[in-house]
Amino acid sequence: MAAPKLPPLPAEKGVWDEHVIDRRRFLEAALGVLAGIGGLLVAVPGARFLIGNSLEPSATKWVELGKIADLPVAAVTQVSYSTRATDAWREVNQRGTVYVSSADGGATFTVLDGTCTHLGCIVQWNEGDSRFVCPCHSGHFTREGEVIDGPPPHRLRQLAVKVQDGALFAEI
Ligand code: FES
Repeated sequence: MAAPKLPPLPAEKGVWDEHVIDRRRFLEAALGVLAGIGGLLVAVPGARFLIGNSLEPSATKWVELGKIADLPVAAVTQVSYSTRATDAWREVNQRGTVYVSSADGGATFTVLDGTCTHLGCIVQWNEGDSRFVCPCHSGHFTREGEVIDGPPPHRLRQLAVKVQDGALFAEI
């Protein structure tokens, strides 16, 4: 917008200096700056609220799955867990299902996340067929979690394990 033409000054005052900012332009600039600051004060917390902590790497935690002495070493054992977790800004109960097995009589353990890698249903261990079967779209996995059949794109997630104070822990 073009600046309004300034009225002539009385002769004893000389002429307008066109380079000196007048009050109107100063107020317009100041309001613009204030509006920008106000916008940032709303936008930054709003964006932080919407994003939450989704950009932060999700923290893993160790969950106790039971005492080693109580885990049947020859079978595939389903273990459900529940733990507190931070979901964006809320504390929630995180539940999950894992399968514990041992191929060497209990010297070491394998823990598989029971969440199907297709659309997230919980797979079931079928002892007769010696495989995991997903009830949603008939995905099939070996005892080690490899895909045998069906739509799952990946093997079941194998979790890190540790033994501490006679109990088995998995990192979820
Ligand atoms: S969710 Fe498991 S096969 Fe689709």
